[in-house]
Amino acid sequence: MAHRWIENSDVLSIFPTLIWKIELTSEAQKAVNTNILKALEDIRPSGADIISAKGWQSNQDLHKLDEFRDLVSYIDDIVITILRFLKIGYEAFEITGCWCTINPTGTSHRAHSHPNNFLSGVYYFQTPVGADTINFHDPRIQTGIIRPPVTELTAENTDQVVVKVRAGTLLVFPAYLQHSVDPNNSEGERIGISFNIMFSSFTENLSKPLW
Ligand SMILES: [Fe+2]
Repeated sequence: MAHRWIENSDVLSIFPTLIWKIELTSEAQKAVNTNILKALEDIRPSGADIISAKGWQSNQDLHKLDEFRDLVSYIDDIVITILRFLKIGYEAFEITGCWCTINPTGTSHRAHSHPNNFLSGVYYFQTPVGADTINFHDPRIQTGIIRPPVTELTAENTDQVVVKVRAGTLLVFPAYLQHSVDPNNSEGERIGISFNIMFSSFTENLSKPLW
């Protein structure tokens, strides 16, 4: 802000919405993916069933399978790091659900959030070009009341942020944050492992009045 009458100025960015984007090392990916592939061979329906549907989701207890042990340990590591980054003084948490989503060509996922959890995330197992993004939507719904035209979309004026992902990306974000997935524009399947994280013993330890 260049005005002669201004001594000093700043733009404060407050209440940030944080998304953690982690890329696994190739060794870590290899171990995780080999096991996921093994598990998927058992749990996924035949290709024809998936293609005829609007995508497919597995049961929500994959974190209990032995094949998911490595992925679960990486999720645990990163969640601890996040809780410490956020200065949260309570580190007992659990994965409350973990499931596989397969999106064949043309299928998408409408905007949604993951209620009754603190964090959510996705590990990307397979992301063909054309099926390698996820959209996050502005949680400040009141900002949609007035949307003047902009000359350029920026982080400060947009209501949607598209995050590019690739196989081996682990995303973690607030569970309240609405997200959606555009139609798969590739010939291949987009495969991701999603999960939710909640504090353990929430009612016993964290839900007392704060005043
Ligand atoms: Fe989701």
